[in-house]
Amino acid sequence: MTNERAAGGKKLRLDKILSHMGVATRSESKKMVKQGRIKVDGKPVKDSGLQVIPEAVTIEVDGAEVRYREFVYLLLNKPQDVVSATEDRRDRTVIDLLDAEYLAFEPFPVGRLDKDTEGLLLLTNDGKLAHELLSPRKHVPKTYEAVVSGAVDDSDAEAFKRGVELDDGYRTMPAKLEIVRRYDREGLPHSDIRLTITEGKFHQVKRMFEAVGKKVMFLKRISMGPLRLDPELDTGSFRELTEAELRSLRGE
Ligand code: URA
Repeated sequence: MTNERAAGGKKLRLDKILSHMGVATRSESKKMVKQGRIKVDGKPVKDSGLQVIPEAVTIEVDGAEVRYREFVYLLLNKPQDVVSATEDRRDRTVIDLLDAEYLAFEPFPVGRLDKDTEGLLLLTNDGKLAHELLSPRKHVPKTYEAVVSGAVDDSDAEAFKRGVELDDGYRTMPAKLEIVRRYDREGLPHSDIRLTITEGKFHQVKRMFEAVGKKVMFLKRISMGPLRLDPELDTGSFRELTEAELRSLRGE
């Protein structure tokens, strides 16, 4: 078996690998190679355009090993007031919350949460996995916690189970509504609820409550498929998925 097949990878230029890992730009790599600071399998490299299979070799920069990987998977607890986009002319984006070391991977949010919605957002550069999670055919369940203005009751749970008609005439798929608590706030009835939907129409949760004459005042996503929002993760912070989380996302 060739090295290439053994590693399951393909050959890439060394300077491209180093820029992908956020180690150096391509021109910096060239300089570093000239200075003898980069080694492949223990030998100083002479050409930054050297083609190697990153998974099959040991790359060192200034004596420290650089571990190559193609994809990154980040679990973010999205705060309010940032948009689920990679760039925006007016607002801060979820990408602005990441550390510089992740930017070279060019991660993007898997789906969107509204600007005023908090909670679980997956960011990755793995387009295939993102596509599968977002595919309408996969019916990936997403659970939200919300504060709703109005007294949510069993008739709303029944309506959501049957499906409600949104303002554009779309009929929603069966959804599970749990009423957690009902109380008065400033003399008006409010409800804390948990809602699980298996689709992702624009502003879906807010529009479902509008369809039953109520208003979402606060919205937070707490799960997506097998992923749960980590209670250790403060609003605005993120971490990489664990191996177990990644395996469960892939259905392994
Ligand atoms: N439903 C909404 O209305 N907003 C979100 O951000 C997510 C689901």
